[in-house]
Amino acid sequence: MNKPQLRIGLIGSGFMGKTHIFGFATAARVFDLPVRIELECIADATPELARAAMSRYGFRRHADSWEELAADPGIDVLDITAPNALHRPMAIAGLAAGKHIYCEKPLAVDVTEATEMTKAAELAGVKTQVGFNYLANPMFRLAKKLISEGRIGEIRSFRGIHAEDYMADRAAPWSWRHDSRGGGATADLGSHIIATAEYLIGPIIGVCGDMHTAIQERRTSEGSEVRVNVDDVGRAFLRFENGASGSIEANWMASGQKMQHAFEIYGSDGAITFDQNRLNELRLHETGTDGRTEGFRTLLAGPEHAPYGEFCVAPGHQLGYNDLKAIEIRDFIEAIAEERSEPFNFAAGLRIQRLVEAIKDSTMRARWTDFT
Ligand SMILES: NC(=O)c1ccc[n+]([C@@H]2O[C@H](COP(=O)([O-])OP(=O)(O)OC[C@H]3O[C@@H](n4cnc5c(N)ncnc54)[C@H](O)[C@@H]3O)[C@@H](O)[C@H]2O)c1
Repeated sequence: MNKPQLRIGLIGSGFMGKTHIFGFATAARVFDLPVRIELECIADATPELARAAMSRYGFRRHADSWEELAADPGIDVLDITAPNALHRPMAIAGLAAGKHIYCEKPLAVDVTEATEMTKAAELAGVKTQVGFNYLANPMFRLAKKLISEGRIGEIRSFRGIHAEDYMADRAAPWSWRHDSRGGGATADLGSHIIATAEYLIGPIIGVCGDMHTAIQERRTSEGSEVRVNVDDVGRAFLRFENGASGSIEANWMASGQKMQHAFEIYGSDGAITFDQNRLNELRLHETGTDGRTEGFRTLLAGPEHAPYGEFCVAPGHQLGYNDLKAIEIRDFIEAIAEERSEPFNFAAGLRIQRLVEAIKDSTMRARWTDFT
């Protein structure tokens, strides 16, 4: 049977652009998708970059600017992997042209922009997705299932961290990530662990934040000194609707940490822990009656943890980071083709943006911010 085609227009070929290209290519081959994915057109910061990316990554065409791509009648999905400050104008232009929008996180630079984007998406009646790819991990889905089945009892506490070290070097140049319009460790990395906390434990109803700038000035690549007015380390205590308490930390100068997206969940009858450094493993402790044999067991990803089996028939052979993007893409594409709700649409992205801003607000006022 001839499947309808879904034509992708991608903006950006940096870190995330490449991950999305991997994701589309893998999803098209690993899953029996309801559509045929076409890598139709790519735009980048300059026409030269776009042309080079087109040939290198196998797009059919390139556009000279993102504006041209957003208005292109030959694409169905506008995929945004540009810096945060560009998400709003790009998404609004794509929505005005009736495109489905796939946008990297964080959704926008602030709540005002994210609200405008969410309203425009609802008005356009198209599908949207924000790139919170860690949630696509089959081991997260297992953790959520174990919690809902009551395997670790009543959930009492959550401790989450997203730490990397790419800003640990004082000499690391000033970049768009240091711009107060959407930058900072809490917006950049904290948004991921906040999304994970709510995915696993449920709605957050209060935050008490503490954000800190450790390196006050950085040099641009041209050599001029710029004052940094975003956080390098952000923390927050959390209260959840279900009565649990918790905390998150976002840290982009945690020397030695390459990808610590990790959580610990403690319940009345056990605990679950995870660390993205070992993304195919979930550690489960179930409180028993024999103290001599109690302890954490390691559950290793395998075909029982869908959709692992679509990638590989053998357990323990492991999925990778790019595979999580392929799963996120499958879920988004199925939402488009089968008129289902998206895994993480703009409204969900707006909620994360509001939580990040609540942490900033609480930090400034040095007190708890209500989030009910
Ligand atoms: N989901 C995740 O795990 C994850 C990881 C890293 C980054 N991100 C997000 O992805 C986005 C991009 O981050 P990155 O690390 O890929 O950045 P990057 O700097 O590596 O890539 C950005 C891309 O956007 C292009 N670009 C810049 N200005 C442009 C313009 N005016 N028009 C068209 N293209 C333009 C650049 O040329 C580059 O190709 C950010 O929103 C970031 O927060 C998400």
